[in-house]
Amino acid sequence: MMTRTKPSPRDELDAIEIASRDEIAARQLERLRWTLRHAYDNVAHYKARFEAAGVHPDDLRTLDDLARFPFTSKADLRANYPFGMFAVPMDEVVRVHASSGTTGKPTVVGYSARDIDIWADVCARSIRAAGGRRSDKIHVAYGYGLFTGGLGAHYGAERLGATVIPMSGGMTERQVQLIQDFQPDILMCTPSYALNIADEFERQGSDPAACSLRIGIFGAEPWTEAMRAEIEARLGMDAVDIYGLSEVMGPGVASECVETKDGATVWEDHFYPEIVHPDSGEPLADGELGELVFTSLTKEALPIIRYRTRDLTRLLPGTARSMRRMARITGRSDDMLIIRGVNVFPSQIEEQIFKCAQLSPHYQIELSRDGHLDQIKVLVELKPNAVDYDRATTARELAHHIKSYIGVSAHIEVLSYGNVARSQGKAVRIVDKRAIP
Ligand code: DLL
Repeated sequence: MMTRTKPSPRDELDAIEIASRDEIAARQLERLRWTLRHAYDNVAHYKARFEAAGVHPDDLRTLDDLARFPFTSKADLRANYPFGMFAVPMDEVVRVHASSGTTGKPTVVGYSARDIDIWADVCARSIRAAGGRRSDKIHVAYGYGLFTGGLGAHYGAERLGATVIPMSGGMTERQVQLIQDFQPDILMCTPSYALNIADEFERQGSDPAACSLRIGIFGAEPWTEAMRAEIEARLGMDAVDIYGLSEVMGPGVASECVETKDGATVWEDHFYPEIVHPDSGEPLADGELGELVFTSLTKEALPIIRYRTRDLTRLLPGTARSMRRMARITGRSDDMLIIRGVNVFPSQIEEQIFKCAQLSPHYQIELSRDGHLDQIKVLVELKPNAVDYDRATTARELAHHIKSYIGVSAHIEVLSYGNVARSQGKAVRIVDKRAIP
């Protein structure tokens, strides 16, 4: 019988992760040509869009030529709901996922057997980059189902050869009990849910930092460096960022390397990133802040060309790997609040909350309208050991930080511990109470 400690090829890096930039670019160009041709030949939407833009797959001679091709948006997927963007016959589609979105029809995505195989590979690569090995036990608390988080992480963990504990989200008391009983090494869930788990440990009277978890692989929602520091201290672990979106694949489009913790490495041999100006769509140089756009390079069932993610970030040179990194997502262009002319992202408010030692990391932002002016209220709560703090003083302190660092006046409501709504997956940070005009 094989022992679990035997080194596995899956514990070693894929050759392409440390290949030269020239090798990576050559592979990208070859795969991009295939993808454009595959989309044009098999998806009526792409053929029509390419023709309307006066471009043909043969026009791609260099990687920069991709900028001549039209963008794809969530609206395109919705207009072709449910399966109209699939490029293979339905009998080759082995799985669908869907993202709920807040309004309208969900976006539906499909995978061939090879797509699932590649997804497992990039998720295994992501877990390995986080320091995971086949000898590890991995507790997956991302939701299983139409959401890509649970199954994506699950297949990646299995591909690595690790032991998966497929918990899914919710039942936080039970999550804590099983972490104590099964002694997993790695936790995969949203960063806000990791904090809920830490809270539950404390509620049950045990110290989360003393538990078996060594690594956390957190994503699916924006989080800040301050939140990383809090999670690492409270759970006694290394916390790394994993990024992805269903339209492009799911988790594992990019993931952070534990040795540098300096932004997620984009797995550029499968996903080609660009940064464009969010309004004009003009390509921006590496290092500039703009909207992240992805083109899939190997996907069969749902090739995606220049998908506008709405996520705002910058592309940075590789460090731990040859592939480029993306800076932590500042926010989504559609989550940007404009308060009396000032652009505000929830992540900026989060950073200010972390400056008040007496506040818990749970928060919600409520938007309302007073006449024509948008008002912002931040709901926060005192930490369990901070009951003696004066709420009015705390509210003034946070309002002052928000005003001086972000430039907007916010009304602060300080609640007692446990009164800000918790979520079991992606945290709901913004509650919009503005009347629809
Ligand atoms: O959230 C896939 C995923 C699952 C990623 C588990 C990581 C871990 P969607 O539900 O389609 O897919 O949502 C995608 O979530 O466009 C971002 O706005 C946001 N997002 C995902 N990862 C991060 C991250 C999954 N690490 C949308 N940081 C994306 C910030 C993230 N935002």
